Amino acid sequence: MKFEHIPVLLAEVIQHLKLENGNIAIDCTLGGAGHAKAILEAIVPDGFLIGIDKDEAAINRAKDELSSFSQQIKLIKGDFSDLDDILSEVGFLKVDRILFDLGASSYQFDFPERGFSYRYDAPLDMRMDLNQKLTAYDVLNEYPEGKLTGLIKKYGEERWASRIARFIAEARKRKSIKTTFDLVELIKSAIPASARRKGGHPAKRTFQALRIEVNKELASLEKGLESAIKHLKPGGRLMVISYHSLEDRIVKNIFKEHSRGCVCPPELLVCVCGKHPTLKILTRKPVTPTEVEVVENPRARSAKLRVAEKAC
Ligand SMILES: C[S@@+](CC[C@H](N)C(=O)[O-])C[C@H]1O[C@@H](n2cnc3c(N)ncnc32)[C@H](O)[C@@H]1O
Repeated sequence: MKFEHIPVLLAEVIQHLKLENGNIAIDCTLGGAGHAKAILEAIVPDGFLIGIDKDEAAINRAKDELSSFSQQIKLIKGDFSDLDDILSEVGFLKVDRILFDLGASSYQFDFPERGFSYRYDAPLDMRMDLNQKLTAYDVLNEYPEGKLTGLIKKYGEERWASRIARFIAEARKRKSIKTTFDLVELIKSAIPASARRKGGHPAKRTFQALRIEVNKELASLEKGLESAIKHLKPGGRLMVISYHSLEDRIVKNIFKEHSRGCVCPPELLVCVCGKHPTLKILTRKPVTPTEVEVVENPRARSAKLRVAEKAC
C-alpha cells in the first residue's frame, strides 16, 4: 500500500516557523514527511533537519521522499520522548525550530493490518512502533475491567465507558477478543441504540482511547515537549499540532507554565523565586484549519496549532 498523508495546516506551519537558510530544525513526527520537505526547502542549502518517527514505515517513506536532501538530514527511528538522548547522539544540543504533528498518520489508519481503524477488520494491534510488545489485543484481553473503564473514560471521553468495559470483560470470558470488528460489535451492543445515532461512529472514542494507551501518547507528549523546550535556542520556535482535547490541554498547560515568570506571593516586595519565563506564547488562541482545508482533507477538522518562542 502507498504511504499517503496530506500534511495538515502546512501553510500556517511554514508561516509561523519563520524559517531561514541555515536553521537547524527537528520534525518530531515525520509521518509522510510532508511538513519535513517544506521545512527543508526553506532552510537549505546551509540548514539541517533531524526527523524522528517511532514507525519504521514512516522512516522508510521519509528516506524516499527526502532523498534529494540526503546531506541535510538525519532520520531516526525513535520516540520523541527520548529527545534528550536522540539529540546527544546526533550531536546537536540546541536547535532553531521544533515541530510536533501529533497522533497517527493517514497511512497508519488506512493500512488495515495495523489495526488502528474501526473501518477495516484486522487484528487488534495499534502499535506505532512494531518492535513494542504491548498491543491493543493485550490491553483488551488482559487489563482488569476497572482499568479498561478508566482508560476508555479518560482517553476516549466516552460516557458509556463502564458499559463498554463490562461488555468486553464478559465477552472475553467466553473467548478472547481478536479483531477490530469483534470490538466494534461489542461497542455497538454496549451503547444504547438511541445514543449510537449521535456523536459519530460509536467505536471512534474507544479506538482513540486504546491507541493512546497502547502508544503511551500523553506521557510521551509531556516528556517530549519539556525536552524540546530545553533544546531550543533563545528566539527558537516550537509548534504543536494536536487533534483532540487531551493533547491540546497538555500543550496549552505546558506552554502556560513555561510562560510564567515570578511565582512569589504578592505580599513579597522582592522576588525570591528567581523564576523567569522560558517561553513566549505566540498563539493565544490556537490556529485552526480553513473550511477549504477541511473539505479537501477531513482529517484536518479537529487540528489545533499552538506556537511558542523560546525566551531570550
Ligand atoms: C500526524 S502524523 C505526522 C504527519 C507529518 N507531519 C506529515 O507531514 O506527513 C504523526 C506521526 O507521528 C508519529 N508519532 C506519534 N507519536 C510519536 C512519538 N511519541 N515518537 C515518535 N513518533 C511519533 C506517528 O508514527 C506518525 O507517523
